[in-house]
Amino acid sequence: MTAAPAPATSARPKLRLGVLGSGSGSNCQAILDACARPEFPAQVAVVVSDVENARILERARQAGVEALHIAPGKFRTKLEPEVEQQYVAALRERQVELVCLAGFMRVLKQGFLNAFPGRIINIHPSLLPAFPGLESWKQALNYGVKVTGCTVHFVDAGIDAGPIILQAAVPVLDDDTPESLHQRIHEQEHRIYPEAIRLLAEGKISIEGRRVVVCRQ
Ligand code: GAR
Repeated sequence: MTAAPAPATSARPKLRLGVLGSGSGSNCQAILDACARPEFPAQVAVVVSDVENARILERARQAGVEALHIAPGKFRTKLEPEVEQQYVAALRERQVELVCLAGFMRVLKQGFLNAFPGRIINIHPSLLPAFPGLESWKQALNYGVKVTGCTVHFVDAGIDAGPIILQAAVPVLDDDTPESLHQRIHEQEHRIYPEAIRLLAEGKISIEGRRVVVCRQ
C-alpha cells in the first residue's frame, strides 16, 4: 500500500506541511530550510505550538510562515479533546496534507489520528524501538549502548511506536555528555527529517504491514 501523500508528478503542487512543536524548533528549521529550495517538493503551510513563547514559532515567522499558538488546555502530556479538534480544524483550514511533529511534547489521541490517517510523522532521538519516551539520548547514555541515533516514523496510537521510515546511527563516545550526544543526534535528525518528507512528497514510500519500503529511483 502506498502511504497517503499522493504520488509525485512533475505537475504536482508542493505537499502542504503542518509542523507541530513545543520547543526550540531546530528540526522545524531544517524543514523550513529544505522547503526554501525551489526543487524541494513540499512547503510549510503553518507551524503550530502548544507553548506560546516557543522558539519554533519565532523561526516560522522569520521564514515568513504562519505561526499559531493553540493553548493545550488542562492536561500536561496530551491535548484536551476539544483542543485537539481546534488543532485539526486549524490544519484542515490550511489544507495541510502531512503533519510533521518536531519536538511536540504531547501525545496525540485518536481524534487527531483519525483526522489524518497515515499522514502524521514524528522524529525521535533514538534508534526505535530502543528508548521511547523522554530524553532518549540520556536513556541511551545511561544504558551504556555504543550506538544510538534517530528515527523518523509514522505516528500511531502507541508511544513512539509507528512504522519506521528512516533511521540514522550515531556512535556514543566514551567522553560524551548528554548535551554532546544530543547535539550529534540533532545533526542527523536535521538530515533525515527533510529526506523522509521528500520521499513521502514524491510518493516513494509504501507500507507493507509494519515495514516501510522506500523506492529511491
Ligand atoms: C528532537 O531531538 C526530537 O527528536 C525530540 O525533541 C527534540 C526537539 O528538538 N522529540 C522527541 O523526543 C519526541 N519523542 P527541536 O525542537 O530542536 O527540533
